[in-house]
Amino acid sequence: MRIVSGLAGALFLTACGQPQPAAEQPDTAPSASQTATAQRPPAFQQCAVCHADTPGAPRRSGPNLHGVMGSKAGTVPADFAFSDGMKKAGFTWDRAKMDAFIENPAVVVPGTRMVFRGEKDPARREAIVDYLETLK
Ligand code: HEC
Repeated sequence: MRIVSGLAGALFLTACGQPQPAAEQPDTAPSASQTATAQRPPAFQQCAVCHADTPGAPRRSGPNLHGVMGSKAGTVPADFAFSDGMKKAGFTWDRAKMDAFIENPAVVVPGTRMVFRGEKDPARREAIVDYLETLK
């Protein structure tokens, strides 16, 4: 029985030596059920209703947004049935275009099928654009 008691001692020491991870979580951390990744900002939750954001994830009512920054509007992903308005938009998604689109989609892309009232808070838009830039 010396082995068993030795193991018990080791486990006891391990348990005492480890910091308690739960105590280190900041109160503001989003719960795992709200976010799939640590960086996804709270403001993106309203987009996630319609947009997946991980490579190869099935589309929701909107196109998967992985790789959208730097792409031509209405081309990524190639298998999404974009509106004629989006296909004819003719611009490339950079920070300024994305910020303007999130603020008022129908003004930047007339005829878009994206039904979103617009995010009016510049700081929340910036957080969304920062996040979209990480989706590469
Ligand atoms: C109610 C569903 C819905 C919501 C909410 C929504 N979208 Fe969309 N989004 C769509 C649809 C549908 C399209 C396709 C529009 C078209 O073809 O005109 C789209 C298109 C886009 C595109 C163009 C993609 C490309 O490849 O050109 C971007 C970028 C985008 N959405 C970003 C966002 C962001 C960021 C948010 C959150 C602030 C958001 N969307 C919220 C449904 C939605």
